[in-house]
Amino acid sequence: MINVTKVVIVGAGAVGSTVAYSLVVKGIAAEVVLVDRNMQKARGEALDMQHSMDFQNRNVRIYAGDYSDCHDADIVVITAAAPLNGETDRLAMQEKSEAIVASVIPQVMESGFDGIFLVVSNPVDVMAYLVYRLSGLPKERVIGTGTVLETARLKHAIGEIMNMDPRSVDAYVMGEHGDTMMVPWSHVRAGGKSFAEILNDSPQRFPGISLEQIVEQTRLAGREVLTAKGNTQYGIASAVTGIVKAVLHDENKMLPVSVFLDGEYGERDVYCGVPAILNRSGVKEIGEFHLREEEKEQLGRSADTLRQAIRRIKT
Ligand code: 2OP
Repeated sequence: MINVTKVVIVGAGAVGSTVAYSLVVKGIAAEVVLVDRNMQKARGEALDMQHSMDFQNRNVRIYAGDYSDCHDADIVVITAAAPLNGETDRLAMQEKSEAIVASVIPQVMESGFDGIFLVVSNPVDVMAYLVYRLSGLPKERVIGTGTVLETARLKHAIGEIMNMDPRSVDAYVMGEHGDTMMVPWSHVRAGGKSFAEILNDSPQRFPGISLEQIVEQTRLAGREVLTAKGNTQYGIASAVTGIVKAVLHDENKMLPVSVFLDGEYGERDVYCGVPAILNRSGVKEIGEFHLREEEKEQLGRSADTLRQAIRRIKT
């Protein structure tokens, strides 16, 4: 039997639907299933995407389904969550999102699902922890989108400053997907050179630009989009697509996803964004950078914030 790759997406809102469309356009999985408590919405989104197939590179089976479809899925993507607006921070959505995610996971597990969870619902690090606890799956197979999106935003910002392709920037934002995220500048390079050194070496080339300002821009980028259009979808959907591809295509690609820390970076019993190598088994390995003292402290503070939030889980 040829292994048919199947991804189930729970939540057919803006994020879930854009993830589905991005998977279809890139032809990453053979089968994509949309599950939503509003079945009509899921059916409408799937039907609309079916009508695009004549123009795609690959015939993807996309359809609306239910939780029983998870039984042979390789990946279940959880996007169902409380809606976010520009004023509140992601952690403020915890209670409402917890109720939604806690009702979804037992239904997925009842199907006999034995694949990999990719959690997108905010606050993503806390929700990934919740999914890990509720599913009983090994930690390597419960992944949150983590700081992959902040990392893309940071690379974009540096690319703009340098007039350079963001893909030539090597960087990993770490910590919470949220206000306490941090940038380990000791590990940020543009075209192979330390970005901090680039700014230092030629300040006249980059007037008025500071590392602090770039961190702030990265931290607030999600809020900026939310304020302008009411939701975010393309950035996060692309991040999800990149993670799904790394897993399904067994890429051994390093991405700063949210993973369960068990001593790495001196942290335990918390989900937090750190660089991790992803392949068909999920998290193959966590990358442990040598961080500077102040970077270690920043990451520690971010992990503390998340651990406190995790303690507030009621389920
Ligand atoms: C984002 O950063 C809102 O977490 C979402 O795009």
